[in-house]
Amino acid sequence: MSTLTVAVDPPYDVEIAPGALELVAAKLKDRKRVAVVSQATIADTYSARLLASIESETNARVGLFLMGDGETSKSMTTVEDLCRRFADWGLLRGDAIVALGGGVVGDTAGFAAAVYHRGVAIVQVPTTLLAMVDAAIGGKTAVNLAEGKNLVGAFHQPVAVVVDTSTLETLGQREFLSGLGEVAKYALLTDVVADPTGLTALLRLRSSAVLDRDPDVLTEVVACCVAIKAEVVAADPFEQTGRRATLNLGHTFAHALETVGGYDLTHGEAVAIGLVFAGALAGACGRVGSDVVDRYQALPHALGLPTQVPDGESGDPEQLLAVMRRDKKAAGGLSFVLPGQNGIERVDDPSDEALRYAFASVGIGI
Ligand code: GLY
Repeated sequence: MSTLTVAVDPPYDVEIAPGALELVAAKLKDRKRVAVVSQATIADTYSARLLASIESETNARVGLFLMGDGETSKSMTTVEDLCRRFADWGLLRGDAIVALGGGVVGDTAGFAAAVYHRGVAIVQVPTTLLAMVDAAIGGKTAVNLAEGKNLVGAFHQPVAVVVDTSTLETLGQREFLSGLGEVAKYALLTDVVADPTGLTALLRLRSSAVLDRDPDVLTEVVACCVAIKAEVVAADPFEQTGRRATLNLGHTFAHALETVGGYDLTHGEAVAIGLVFAGALAGACGRVGSDVVDRYQALPHALGLPTQVPDGESGDPEQLLAVMRRDKKAAGGLSFVLPGQNGIERVDDPSDEALRYAFASVGIGI
């Protein structure tokens, strides 16, 4: 088992182990009421065990609050519905919420926790690889509007995160691979300057064990990603210095692919292609050598992820550029986070020639 600390104010622990669900109760000792938010399919498998363990190990009254599936449920309507049900049930400011599920549950329950009674404690219990290495760590919460994804949200750090890596056994293959897209991002984030957690080496040496979902190797992989994210979040908890924005490596192009649509890509698949794009762009800008450009292609490939934009009806580079210019992290022009000799840095408005090279690297000709 790994216990890592996210050193924000106040700090909190992330427990990572197969079977860690049993540790959730220990995070709720002084609570009188605990509202577990989940979705039906996840609750069917895990909620009975979780609720029984909280009930037997604490004096809290425990309730299960189900919400819908998919991005459309990550909405203000769901937040209002949850908050009304919390109020009806008697949840008060000193009580706690537990988010049991993937990113949709974590983001929505997290935002409800941020605003209900002006903020109640939340324990994040992610059950997808993507949520374990990203959404559950760092306190970003948000819901979607018709006008765009994650447009309404708040920073609300959890009081604890409990990652039961045995929940990965039942994850669909495509969803598992999607999580590996973010895992590849963490490895490449630390690739040029140093490999402090050993993640790059671990993925290189144990890629088949990762793909076979070896529980011990996955626990180690998740712990490395969480360690990298925890360090970045502690350095820039409110995304003010530019450090936290480095977590968006590969994401500018990935968001454009997801927004333009027509590719039927999961988030992690889009990130994998975005990493190839970012590596090629950094190479074309003279920031890194061909060895780094090659690694930005080789790592996603070794993890079974796509490295080229699939044939689709929307391979229009002008449309992708227009979306990238509108990316909420860009201050007007085109903005990327790219590797270089000093690590990952923001790079604005690369040349047309460099962009052409990066587009070609993922199979788009302009
Ligand atoms: N998902 C990026 C962040 O938490 O900052």
